[in-house]
Amino acid sequence: MSNDYDILDRYTNAFPASRTLYDRALQRFPNGVTHDVRFFEPFPIYIDRALGSRKWDLDGHELIDYWSGHGALLLGHSPRPVVEAVQKQIALGTHLGACHELEIQWADLVCELVPTAERVRFTGTGTEATLMAIRLCRTFTGKDKLLKFAGHFHGWHDAVIPAANPPYEVPIPGIPEAVLNTTVVCPPNDITQVEDILRADDGIACVILEPTGGSWGTIPTTGEFLHQLREVTERYGVLLIFDEVITGFRVAPGGAQGFYGVRPDLTTLAKILAGGLPGGAVTGRADLLEQLEIRDDPDWMHTRKMPHPGTFNANPLSAVAGIATLKQVRDGEPNRKANESAARLRQRMNEVIDQYGLNWCVYGEFSGVKLLLGHDRRGIPAREFNVLEYDYRKLKKATDPRITQLVRAGMLLNGVDMAGGGGMTMAAHSDEDVARTVEAFDTTIQWMRRQSVL
Ligand SMILES: Cc1ncc(COP(=O)(O)O)c(C=O)c1O
Repeated sequence: MSNDYDILDRYTNAFPASRTLYDRALQRFPNGVTHDVRFFEPFPIYIDRALGSRKWDLDGHELIDYWSGHGALLLGHSPRPVVEAVQKQIALGTHLGACHELEIQWADLVCELVPTAERVRFTGTGTEATLMAIRLCRTFTGKDKLLKFAGHFHGWHDAVIPAANPPYEVPIPGIPEAVLNTTVVCPPNDITQVEDILRADDGIACVILEPTGGSWGTIPTTGEFLHQLREVTERYGVLLIFDEVITGFRVAPGGAQGFYGVRPDLTTLAKILAGGLPGGAVTGRADLLEQLEIRDDPDWMHTRKMPHPGTFNANPLSAVAGIATLKQVRDGEPNRKANESAARLRQRMNEVIDQYGLNWCVYGEFSGVKLLLGHDRRGIPAREFNVLEYDYRKLKKATDPRITQLVRAGMLLNGVDMAGGGGMTMAAHSDEDVARTVEAFDTTIQWMRRQSVL
């Protein structure tokens, strides 16, 4: 039975234009959506424009955005240098069907900022980048297997989607068993297990991880673990891939490897790399990337050459957006601003949680804001909760779906668009945005209490 404070009734009443579009979308798309994490019941909201830290839906609500373009935006929505560069380029050609100087400028910036970047190859997406990095490692070593960590996300291709989300042991339909057998899954942050696996199995070509932890730090890791992993992989002659699709140019201009001073063999990039447009890249050791070379040597071509076409590799629109963005990232100022806003947000949202005595917590590092809506350590204030000591299996998608749904809907009704698991800040987020977000969170909790769900 609904009452005055039923959040989902309010939601349905407040977003009628989105409801109407969703009914149309249901006729066209599975679940009515085009990305798994955009699925939301009773219906998702439809956005028609965005600027800075804000976006506006079809019913005219102004929302503070923490999706940040799924992590592709660091400066904010439509920053002027990116808009101007893209507008200029669109008139000069969206696809030149040729080499162009912009791709070199773009790669120059990658090599300037990413400490281990010796060579670069652009791809269409982050998924393609991890696919390439793994293939390069397999070819180089002549070994088939890769080791990945439970809860770490590297895109949706066959080698890496297993164990990306709980339940971690359940195989993904449609992936042949022979392929599944080449992906070895290890619990996160357990260097002893990594070493045991590498010692017992000499068929492992590479280890891949998200260097601030699974799903952008939802299952966090530490700099210490990264250093240990580098040491162990080197000792066993196994290649190390840092998947910096999110962390690259976000946690610091040089990504997590720059911040922690750890040198992977290969690095995958996307998102901020292309300034909010589609694009990815693999970078790292020249002797690994040289396997992309075409050579006048049949033996090389048959045993080493990795074929790599791709219609939109280094497309000029992504190149100019990427160049304009990376030039801003150079001095680390956007990273510093985004990191500071997130730290304030985490602290103040935790103060609200403690004020209501909830067993919730907001955690994260850098520009990450992670919502843990319910944990089994009652009595520990949110501000003192140490997520590294918590069972990693309860960090991803473990919250009661109804609580997640109501928090998301309540926040939207109060002018904040933050995904159920949290979000991330951009340089465009202001002190006022942080204050309004904390208020929205507080009001949402009050509504949930009045609705007797808390
Ligand atoms: C760490 C990481 N790797 C790879 C990917 C896949 O990138 P894309 O969505 O561009 O294919 C993502 C996407 O969110 C990611 O977060």
